[in-house]
Amino acid sequence: MPIAKPADTAHPIHPLLRERWSPRAFAMKAVEREKLLSLLEAGRWAASCANEQSWAFVVATADDHAGFATMMGCLTAGNQVWCAHAPVLMLSFARTHFAARGVPNRHHMHDVGQFAANMAIQAVAQGLVIHQMAGIVADRIRETYAVPDGYEPCTAIAIGYHGELADLPNDEQRAKEQAARTRKPLGDFVFGGKFGDTSPLVG
Ligand SMILES: Cc1cc2nc3c(=O)[nH]c(=O)nc-3n(C[C@H](O)[C@H](O)[C@H](O)COP(=O)(O)O)c2cc1C
Repeated sequence: MPIAKPADTAHPIHPLLRERWSPRAFAMKAVEREKLLSLLEAGRWAASCANEQSWAFVVATADDHAGFATMMGCLTAGNQVWCAHAPVLMLSFARTHFAARGVPNRHHMHDVGQFAANMAIQAVAQGLVIHQMAGIVADRIRETYAVPDGYEPCTAIAIGYHGELADLPNDEQRAKEQAARTRKPLGDFVFGGKFGDTSPLVG
């Protein structure tokens, strides 16, 4: 059975949020095109600064062996280890400037993150999992995919059906798959009055 790691919440949250986590084990099962399209559609309806939708993606599915291998080659070694069985990989990009005015958009990465968060929750609703990665080789991505100036490689995202411990290549990865999920308490980062002073709302 795939491992469930529901969030141990201090306050009630929606079940889709509670169930989401970032597994490394993927089942050897392709993701249906309609489900993949729904994930992207969920992201498409994310909020973004001035509705700039400053996101872009390159997608590779495992049935395209060459394309998939090329994208794998753009991940750091630590991520390649567990990603090998993921049926879908994506690279995300952020446009750094507002399209019309050409001035910097300070929230470009933030908006791509909103897209990814929407996808992550849609994935849970569809019985899928996603795992986002900062461990990418940005310069290789720029060269490999002829990324135009003004776009910044942001993350890689592995998508698929959750697998079992046996789907992982070694004990280190199996230990990570089983490790407890932890979070700081709200009081550590929700402030009132001055930055650093815990808000009475959460204190
Ligand atoms: C922007 C971003 C970058 C991440 N980079 C990596 C990564 O390179 N490799 C990895 O294994 N996990 C990566 N993760 C997954 C995080 O480690 C994970 O989300 C975090 O530990 C919380 O665990 P949870 O998602 O299971 O709640 C990344 C997540 C995000 C949102």
